[in-house]
Amino acid sequence: MPDTTTPRFALASGAPAGTRADVLVLFAEEAPRPNGAVAEINKALSGQLLRAATEEGFRGKPDQTFVLHTHGRLPVSRVVLVGTGPRERTDAESLRQAAGRGVKAAQRLRARSVAMAVPGNPGESLGPVAEGAALGVYRFDQYRTEGREEWVPLEAVRLLLPDGAARTHALDRVLERVMQVTEAANFARTLVNEPAGQLTPETLAEEASRAAKSHGLEVKISGPKELKKLRMGMFSAVGQGSQNTPRLIEIAYRPKKPSAAKARPVSLVGKAITFDSGGLSLKSAENMADMKSDMAGSAAVLGALQVAADLAPPFPVYGYLGAAENMPSGAAYRPGDILVSRLGKTVEVTNTDAEGRLVLGDVLAYAVEQKPAALIDLATLTGACVVALGHWVAGLFSNSDALANELLSASARAGEAFWRLPLVDLQKDTLRSDVADMKNHGERWGGAITAAIFLREFVGDAPWAHLDIAGPALAPRDRGYLGKGATGVGVRTLAAFLEGRAREGK
Ligand code: BES
Ligand code: MN
Ligand code: ZN
Repeated sequence: MPDTTTPRFALASGAPAGTRADVLVLFAEEAPRPNGAVAEINKALSGQLLRAATEEGFRGKPDQTFVLHTHGRLPVSRVVLVGTGPRERTDAESLRQAAGRGVKAAQRLRARSVAMAVPGNPGESLGPVAEGAALGVYRFDQYRTEGREEWVPLEAVRLLLPDGAARTHALDRVLERVMQVTEAANFARTLVNEPAGQLTPETLAEEASRAAKSHGLEVKISGPKELKKLRMGMFSAVGQGSQNTPRLIEIAYRPKKPSAAKARPVSLVGKAITFDSGGLSLKSAENMADMKSDMAGSAAVLGALQVAADLAPPFPVYGYLGAAENMPSGAAYRPGDILVSRLGKTVEVTNTDAEGRLVLGDVLAYAVEQKPAALIDLATLTGACVVALGHWVAGLFSNSDALANELLSASARAGEAFWRLPLVDLQKDTLRSDVADMKNHGERWGGAITAAIFLREFVGDAPWAHLDIAGPALAPRDRGYLGKGATGVGVRTLAAFLEGRAREGK
């Protein structure tokens, strides 16, 4: 994969008015009286900053950005105000969004260096500001050959602590964690953005091996022959139509301490359909266009394993990526085929485009054999989930209220929106088959639930959650710290989840 350059992030203290950088980003509340760095810079510019901003209609609303050229009156050449909304409604997510908009504005201004005045109590605000900035600077432009000369790479982002706040070890740790998590999320974004012609099951396995090795993780790759030997009849069938043969990618973080290494693992399973054409139940051109992103679940799992390696929790974390390309060909699996799963259950294929559940069913059954303390799968599983929840909210299904709530709370801390959907039996009958134990495809209505019901057949008694990220895997347009394209959804929630469990010593 081509390299992306990320700017250096560093903590700094000192007055914003004395800061040297191409762009200074200030967080402005929707408030009658500016405070903190905004007031200081405004004073240094004899009130011109806020006079000009007000004239342009800037009120500090969460969607507002204002740029002022300083014409040599300050050591920074431009000041960017980003609105954060009313103070009582300012939370971590509004800071992330504002920070993202701030660095994007700086990039548009062709800044090489940015300073950001961390607002409020840095113990609370540094993390979100750094996170929004580190996600906001992400670009996927390795394949552009034109227009690049106008593009100036951002080299450094300095996070200025508010007046009087000392640089502490705790703040250094916050920044370090944020960098680890955002690097993993941006890595996941690049894997998803990478075209399917480049990222096949084989090259995904190579990327995963490389990432695993550089993080001191164990990795094991199984090809089509081994999948047959593992009796993964559903997974094998999905991959059999493509020249790019399937791979099962297993990654493991194991704690060094022997007692911790013996704890039950947190197991993460990711759907890695590197391209979903639909197979013989071929998709329409319109529905196929974005299907290079059908491995976003596995990208998140890979990102989460990197975070696990950095975090070193006192329990093992296992990642399983079920990688295949769903293609039509003379060798492809067909509607009507009956597949034998690893569990022994037989499945009649009624739609080859419902391939994700087939791959996941076998991989989940395999993961369950290690008796995980929690089993979480992430998958761009159904268009129905996008219809239900849109592009910014992921669906969550679980057979455990405790695990569901733990994940919902992690996602809230991370700033990723998940919404629990019901894992009810009411429409289980739509998967009944005349010739096998079940079909892989029911009726159209409630399709996200049907898919979850199908997966549940393969997890036994394990505490399990299924995250349907079909909507938020890709952002349809620029928004806050995200740009159009891959979002890395899931990485930050899983990071918060692992961090939560590590803290509790579970
Ligand atoms: N990968 C798709 C789901 C998807 C749709 C992801 C839109 C992202 C955006 C999945 O494999 C699929 O094709 N699902 C079918 C299931 C149906 C055939 C039961 C769908 O949602 O239409
Ligand atoms: Mn499909
Ligand atoms: Zn798919």
